[in-house]
This record gives sequence, C-alpha cells and structure tokens, in this order.
Amino acid sequence: MTELTLDTIDFAILADTFHAPTKGSFEFHSDWLILVDRNGDIAATVDKNQPHYGDWLAAIAAQNKLRTVEKGHYLLPGLVDLHCHAPQWPQAGKGLDLPLYEWLQNYTFPLENRYRDNAFADDIYADVVSTLLANGTTSAVYFASIHRESSELLAQHCLTQGQRGFVGKVNMDNAEQCPDFYRESSVAQALAETEQFVHNVFALPGNDIGLVSPVITPRFVPSCTPQMLRGLGDLVQKYDLHMQTHCSESDWARDYAQSQFGKTDIEIYAEHGLLNRKSVLAHSIFLTENDVAMIKDYQAGIGHCPLSNMYFANAAMQTRELLDAGVQIGLGSDIAGAPVPSIFRAAFDAVSHSRVREDGVNGRIDAALRGEANSRVSYVEAFWMATAGGGQVLDSKVGVFAPGYHFDALVIEPSRDFGNLRVYSDMDSPRDILEKVIALASRENIQRVWVQGRLVRG
Ligand code: GUN
Ligand code: FE
Repeated sequence: MTELTLDTIDFAILADTFHAPTKGSFEFHSDWLILVDRNGDIAATVDKNQPHYGDWLAAIAAQNKLRTVEKGHYLLPGLVDLHCHAPQWPQAGKGLDLPLYEWLQNYTFPLENRYRDNAFADDIYADVVSTLLANGTTSAVYFASIHRESSELLAQHCLTQGQRGFVGKVNMDNAEQCPDFYRESSVAQALAETEQFVHNVFALPGNDIGLVSPVITPRFVPSCTPQMLRGLGDLVQKYDLHMQTHCSESDWARDYAQSQFGKTDIEIYAEHGLLNRKSVLAHSIFLTENDVAMIKDYQAGIGHCPLSNMYFANAAMQTRELLDAGVQIGLGSDIAGAPVPSIFRAAFDAVSHSRVREDGVNGRIDAALRGEANSRVSYVEAFWMATAGGGQVLDSKVGVFAPGYHFDALVIEPSRDFGNLRVYSDMDSPRDILEKVIALASRENIQRVWVQGRLVRG
C-alpha cells in the first residue's frame, strides 16, 4: 500500500456486504472494505482475512475517507431494471384485465401521446427517475415515447438525479397497427429524429462519462415496417448502440410476426441488423431453439418481466432453461404492464412465477404430469439476475463489487418501525437475510443509494 494509491481513493465503505458475482451463488463478507476511486469506480475490495486489512483501514480512516455502514444494515449492489416504460407511470395499475392489444390501444397509446407536451413529460419523468432510485434501481433501461424532445428530458432527469439511464425514443410507424394520432409521420423523419436523439443524449452537459446512454427502440415487430427496422438497425451498427424492444411477448405478437414475415421476432431483428451484445430483449417467452442459439451468438440479453408476463404473456417464461443455457438474462419491472416499480419485487415474482410453472395449475391432473419438473428458480438466482445478470445484459460494469466495476450500491435497513423486513441476528443466517431482503424489502428499507460513487439518496 503506497500513499500514491491511497491518494486516488475518494472514499471507502466498510459494510456487511452481499453480492452475487457468479450465477447460482452469493457471497457475504462481514466488515468488507470497498475502495472507490475519484471516478466512482471500485479500486479494490479488502476482506478482513486479507493481510494488511488493518493497515488499509487505519490509513483510510486517518485520511477521513472511511464511511461505515452500521451493524444490522447491509450493503448490496444497486439493482438493474432492464425494462421500464417511463411514460406509462400514470397508468400503473390500470386496465390490467385487458389483453395486451386492447390495453395498448385503449390506455397506453393515448397516454404516451401526451408526451408531445414537454411540460407534462417533465413533471412525470422527474418522478419516475426519483421513484426508481428510491426503490434501489441504479441502472434503468427506459422506453420513452415517440417524441424526441421529451425523451431527451427523461435522459436529462437521469443525469440530474444521478441515475445510470439507458433511454430510448420509441419508434413505431406501421399504419396498420399504430393509431393515426400516435405514429411517426414518416420513416425518414423518424430516423432523422432518432439520430438527432442519439447525438443529443451523448452531448448532454455533464454526460462526459456516459452515465446516460441512448438506446435504439423499435417498439416491437407489429408496430414497425421493415423499412423502419432496417433504418434503426443501420443506426445500431453505425454507432454501436444499445437496442431494446419487445420480443415474442404474447401469442398475438408471436403470431403477428409469423403471419407478416414468416419468421420469429429474433430472426426478424437479426435480419434487420438490430442485434448485438448490448441488445435488451424484453419478455422473450416464445423462443425457438434456434432463437436461443442466435441470442447467444449475438451475446444479446433478455429482460425477464415476471409480473407483466402473468398478465400479458399467455405462457410461462422458460427462465430455468435460459439460465442453464447461459443466455444473458436480467429482470425488468415493465412499468406499466406490471404496476410495481421495484426490482426486488421482480426478483420475488421471478421465483414465484417459476414455482407455479414447476407445480402446474390444474388440480385435476396427476401431480407428476401437472407442471414442468425442475423449472424452479432460486432466490439467489433471482438476486443474480437483479444485479450481475442485468449488468451483463447491458454490457456494463455494474451489479458486482469488484475492481473496475462502477460503485453502484444501496444500503438495506431492516427495522421494526417501518416496512415489513425483520432480521433476527440469533436466528437468521446470511442466506436467510438475503432471501428476506428479496421477499420483504420495500423502499422504506432502502436507506442510501449510490451511483458511480455519488450518493444520490440518503
Ligand atoms: N408491446 C408493445 N408495446 C408494449 C408495451 O408498452 N408494454 C408491453 N408490456 N408490451 C408491449
Ligand atoms: Fe414493455
């Protein structure tokens, strides 16, 4: 340890810490020391069994750089929401009895169209970003609306409030599927606006480290013409951009792609140049074996949205198989296809969803035939998807506490005075505590949040 290395350290956190660097397992380190450099990246982690741990601690404390998380509170990586429709926030909890097509036409498109009004958008987008941060979401992948200017306002709110944002101006131009009042005026105009959006987001004042990234966003196959898909694919390739879309989400969406293109969504996206290692494919329920192989080849990733799937997907997600196949996969809230802006809740729902699938639902069928054996997902795997898995999908250094990763983190405070999370130190093992956090932590329990080393909550 030299003075020089310590000089590059902005602060260090001393905390009882959970993270899940490897799918299927977790680590708990009591009194872990995480050194954060001046860029907000992790310079080193030091376990108390390592030699010189005491020297590090003393040296950091002597420089007034030690931040201690109190005993009984826990440090976790910040959560990654791979799929959130920011403009749908006022719609959360409404119309969920409808099938997807009617829900979009009757609720979503009229609401999203209101974001042509920047003042309306500004107020709601400020609240969305702040709500997700309060729920521990440090990285959020947002669909905005078709409007470039207000989509840029969403990106600006991420930057101002300090959230790692991946923001897309939505594209939809198919006159057969999109209402007249909410549709791009032409492919050329939409592509020009999208390219402008990409430039403007990169150039936002204060975005020099790239905290906020533009995302190419074809809404889904039914809403886009082939010309639109091709033009957007060209932008993905030209600037090596993130891409997000809905993939094989429902029977209707899957059948639409087959009837119009004679292909699966994945084949269509690939053919139009839309897939790369930074693509986020929301849902991905009806994948063929070939689709799965293609997703792996492109190193694209899936945003699993378990609660929304229970409303709109018509079938259960093959989460177990995708995890076992080594496909990159994380979690999404899918506001407002599901109403809860929390990735802890998405993790809990991923577990529950898989358990219903495993057992099956029809009590008149013999137990051995009722469900799909061995399809359960564990709490620890769900935690991995909520953090490290999401980071992999984004091709970003987030979700794990390791040198070179961004310091995006939250502190959980269990309490008898608020929320429902209780920890009994004489009865609960680290695994018990982690499972309880996933099942029971709500925003009241999220006491502090950092993104890129900056304290943004608490
Ligand atoms: N498919 C196309 N648009 C949407 C949307 O806004 N939400 C969901 N869940 N699915 C979609
Ligand atoms: Fe969605």
